[in-house]
Parts: sequence; structure tokens; C-alpha cells
Amino acid sequence: MFKEKFREGIISAKQFDRDDIDYILKKGKEMMNVKNSNILNGKILATLFFEPSTRTRLSFESAMHRLGGNVIGFSSGEVSSIKKGESIADTIRTVENYSDCIVMRNPLEGAAMLASRFAKIPIINAGSGSGEHPTQALLDLLTIQEECGTIDGLNIGIVGDLKYGRTVHSLSILLSNFDANIYFISPKELALRNRYKEYLQERHLKFKEITKYRNVLDILDVLYMTRIQKERFIDQEEYERVKNSFVFREEDLKVTKEGFKLLHPLPRITEITPDIDAYTDKAIFFKQTNYGLHLRKALLAELMAD
Ligand code: NCD
Repeated sequence: MFKEKFREGIISAKQFDRDDIDYILKKGKEMMNVKNSNILNGKILATLFFEPSTRTRLSFESAMHRLGGNVIGFSSGEVSSIKKGESIADTIRTVENYSDCIVMRNPLEGAAMLASRFAKIPIINAGSGSGEHPTQALLDLLTIQEECGTIDGLNIGIVGDLKYGRTVHSLSILLSNFDANIYFISPKELALRNRYKEYLQERHLKFKEITKYRNVLDILDVLYMTRIQKERFIDQEEYERVKNSFVFREEDLKVTKEGFKLLHPLPRITEITPDIDAYTDKAIFFKQTNYGLHLRKALLAELMAD
């Protein structure tokens, strides 16, 4: 069922309804008990990364190895024939002959969508410019569900670069399947773009836009901090102006609720100080990277297992 619905791959969080989310989170949880398996024996995953990555690429590759499959690919656009001028379409029509599924990260917002039009095998969008990053959002939800026991009913703050942050876009879209209260927190110039807000309004997501997280910190169950996306700014002076908009420090934890959780897709730059790292009951961003492995194992198994 999942395999059939997602046979072209995972391009946008908009493909997921509540049943799909519940299903894949359940499968992700089950994968926590599967360290190694051979269900993807004989399968090949291609990871095509045209932008830097640590967690996304390595967790997909680790997931594939853990399930008995193999991995090919590249971790920089500099070493593929795209550098010589080859199109994404031609690259995809080539790589699909060598693999069973393609995970791709590209600086162009429409790249994953374009790739899926040409591919006969599933494409997984591992980040498309300042557009979307749906598998990160799924692992964010798995983290919240496991750590808070629920997603419905929570007060969730999403802070930072809401304009260019692709994880924010996919996470908000997925959250529109839940009955949570969302606070979008950013400087005005980095607010969520209208096309996302309109979509979320149509889907009746309950959200407010504010500029300071400290105004709501005491009522939040989850704070999802994000990095200001330096590489997306056309005007570097604007980046300099907003880059230190938010810095979450140890003292901020004092006003938070007992079950409060601080998430971050990572990498963090200056927006969370390292003195937080000792508070692992609340600061769970490294645990989040582990949930990512299991969620990605579940996705790969669903898309590729016979
Ligand atoms: C994010 C990304 O690439 O969008 N990283 C990740 O996949 N965990 C977040 C970011 O780069 O800020």
C-alpha cells in the first residue's frame, strides 16, 4: 500500500496524509529493534548529493548497510558529470540503471520533482534548495512522538529561518495533519513565505507568528530551533544583520516545562550554545539523529523490499 502510493518516491511532505504518517512512524519505531537485517539484500541505493551533508547522507547509507543492501553515489556535484554540463534528467536516466532507489540533494527547489518525472525508480528528496526536506520532517515527528508520547495537543515553537529553511517547510506541512498549536518564531524578514502560510491555513493548522521565543517558552512542549541559512541569502549584508537573531542558552531551560524538548535538524552554528548539551533530557538533537537512522531504515525497506 505504502509502496504503491509512493512508487515515484518521496518528493514533498504534501504527499503524506495522517494514515501514511502514522504508518511510517510505526515502522520507524519497529526499526529501533532491528540492528541488522538482510531484507534489502541485493538492492542498491544511489545517493546523489550536490550539496553538503553529514546526517542525511550518512544515515541513509548506514540504514541501507544495516538492512543488507549496497550503496553507490557521490557526495559533491564537483565529481559528477553535472559539472561537465549534463542535465539532471540525463543523470537520473543513467543512475536508474545502476540502482533501485535514488536519494538526491540539490540546490534547485524543483530538482527532486524534476528527477521523479524522468525516473522509473523511486526518488527520495533529501533537500531541494530552500523548498523541502520531507524525510527530515518525518524523523522530526518520530522524535516528538517518541519523546513526548503524542503530537496532537502539543505547543510547538518553530524558530529561526522560516523563509529559507526547507526542514521547516516540510515539518509544518506534516504538522497540518495534527491538532497541535504552532508558534512560528522569526525576524519579520525570515517569516514563512505566503505560499506556505496559505497552504497551512487551508489545512486548518492552528498557528501564530511571533518574533521572540522567550514570550512563549514557558508554555512550549517542543522548541524546534533552526540555523539561519547563510548560503541562500542573495544579500550577505542581510545575513549579517539577522544571523544572531536567536541564541538559546542554558538559562533559557530554567523557564521551560518539565517535559520540554529542544530539537534541531542540525548543523547548529550559534543558535544553541554548547552549555545546553549536558541537559540531555531536554536537549535531544543528537538523539534526534538516531531516530533519523531508524526512520530512514523504515522508508528504504518500504520502498525497496520485495
Ligand atoms: C538541514 C538541511 O540540509 O536542510 N540539515 C539536515 O538535513 N539535517 C538543515 C540545515 O542545513 O540547516
